[in-house]
Amino acid sequence: MASSSIFNTIAVLAFLVLFMSNANAQLSANFYFKSCPKLFPTVKSAVQSAISKEARIGASILRLFFHDCFVNGCDGSLLLDDTSSFRGEKNANPNRNSARGFDVVDNIKSAVENVCPGVVSCADVLAIAARDSVVTLGGPNWDVKLGRRDARTASLSAANNGIPPPTSDLNRLISRFSSLGLSTRDLVALSGSHTIGQARCTNFRARIYNESNIESSFAKTRQSNCPRNSGSGDNNLAPLDLQTPTAFDNKYFINLIQNKGLLHSDQQLFNGGSTDSIVRGYSNSQSSFASDFAAAMIKMGDISPLTGSNGEIRKNCRRVN
Ligand code: HEM
Ligand SMILES: *[C@@H]1O[C@H](CO)[C@@H](O)[C@H](O)[C@H]1NC(C)=O
Repeated sequence: MASSSIFNTIAVLAFLVLFMSNANAQLSANFYFKSCPKLFPTVKSAVQSAISKEARIGASILRLFFHDCFVNGCDGSLLLDDTSSFRGEKNANPNRNSARGFDVVDNIKSAVENVCPGVVSCADVLAIAARDSVVTLGGPNWDVKLGRRDARTASLSAANNGIPPPTSDLNRLISRFSSLGLSTRDLVALSGSHTIGQARCTNFRARIYNESNIESSFAKTRQSNCPRNSGSGDNNLAPLDLQTPTAFDNKYFINLIQNKGLLHSDQQLFNGGSTDSIVRGYSNSQSSFASDFAAAMIKMGDISPLTGSNGEIRKNCRRVN
């Protein structure tokens, strides 16, 4: 009798804990602690091996996480391929001929499936891979919150409307980030991601030929590999951070102070407006950038996740189960 009533009490408590954690729908860093103990080392080694083959891929993966989170939340929707009967987000304007690294995400996901099949969502794999990319390139570390599930849908139009274009002015950037619960400070810190990676001529042509808040020798250098007329050299690449394009540091902000931001949207953060002082602060302090960036990545990762029994744990990140 006594032992069965203790058993009952434990069962009720266990039910309550499960039920309450479900009702809370909170992400937590130890979500896969029991169900996938090898998760973190598995993702890390796959990310490190991809970056050792091509340093830029770390930037590309970080950007995928941003483009996932800004479109109906961090739910892996970006990773779904188009089919004859389904239009996903990969061909939205900000992604077409631009978003890259999907094959690497597939490799990481397969490595995770090998150690714990059917347990970890693609949305979570991407969140961890983004963190590991930053760390591998010398940036800050943080505890990634987990427990996201994968969307069974995606939205081309939400991707076209939700990811700000590089032609955006400061007000537009501030208001888009704010609509997702991200502050102006978060905007500036997260934009520091442009301390790594590359951009295509088509995205900075108007700036290097037509804008006046650009340092002239920098503009000339960029013009040499980005022809004035659209249609020629559109996909030619230039580093977003001219100094250290594969090191996650605060040089991006130092560039902005010198009017050497590559994108119009980059230079908007230091153009006589309300964010100048934040840019100055980060340019003077690697550590304040690092800690604000980590905090802002956690906030971005919290945008509208699917949790509990919503969505699914996709087997293959490119298609719904
Ligand atoms: C603030 C608004 C932002 C705008 C307008 C913007 C725009 C862009 C554009 C136009 C490119 C170049 C794409 C190409 O030419 O193919 C780019 C690259 C990149 N963006 Fe952003 N971005 C923004 C914010 C962010 C954020 C918040 C992150 C990450 C948290 C991020 C991470 C990256 C990275 C790492 C790259 C380089 C990717 C690579 O080399 O493959 N960006 N961004
Ligand atoms: C520069 O501005 C002029 C005038 O608005 C425009 O006709 C031209 O296409 C622009 N050039 C580039 C490279 O954006």
